[in-house]
Amino acid sequence: MVTRRTIRSLALAGGLAGLAGVAYALRWRQKPSPCPYSQRVWIDLPRPVISRSRLCEVLEPQPGERILELGPGTGYYTGTVARAVAPNGTVHAVDVQRSMVADLRTRLRDRGHDNVAPVCGDGRELPYPDDSFDAAYLVLVLGEIPAQERALAELERVLKPGGRLVVGESLPDPHFVTCETLRDRAERQGFRFETDVGTRGSYFTRVAVPPSATGD
Ligand SMILES: C[S@@+](CC[C@H](N)C(=O)[O-])C[C@H]1O[C@@H](n2cnc3c(N)ncnc32)[C@H](O)[C@@H]1O
Repeated sequence: MVTRRTIRSLALAGGLAGLAGVAYALRWRQKPSPCPYSQRVWIDLPRPVISRSRLCEVLEPQPGERILELGPGTGYYTGTVARAVAPNGTVHAVDVQRSMVADLRTRLRDRGHDNVAPVCGDGRELPYPDDSFDAAYLVLVLGEIPAQERALAELERVLKPGGRLVVGESLPDPHFVTCETLRDRAERQGFRFETDVGTRGSYFTRVAVPPSATGD
């Protein structure tokens, strides 16, 4: 016979096992590493502060622009930005994990977005020539990259003079990067700080490549 005491013990054991699992996952995720595809459920959750509409307010995507998204995952923001640059603009969505890229491709096709190019690639070595994009963004990605400054240098390289870069971060992401650290690292790679919105624990920061001295 199952007593109340047995049920309580089982519930306690289950709770402890769950907590141990979460602690293990968080500890493992302390090392910079891509969010595993098996944990994609977390990146599909709604985001009240770093919302899609707020990203658009800060990034200001314009029809016809060519935009780079680094680390799109399953595409929380991709379709919104793709709509903003349509009909002639494009979003190049570069993720290091094939599984994420395949998932993103399926979701975009199902939602009818035909101006997104999902690409498998590494933010530390972007597969584009210099001055390729009008703007770029990455959300919950920077802290997963072992060489953040290298990725920022690559973003600076592929953006045109005057190009905008928006970086989004939010707790409790185990790889959260503070806005001070981000600003410092971005400025060291030649970006100029423009603005930030949100809170200390959940924000978008916009920086930009200075316009070219020759006016090109
Ligand atoms: C936490 S997810 C965030 C996904 C999406 N930006 C969002 O906000 O839902 C981080 C994504 O960045 C990708 N990523 C991590 N390191 C990367 C790298 N070096 N180059 C490109 N993508 C990377 C991961 O594969 C993963 O899809």
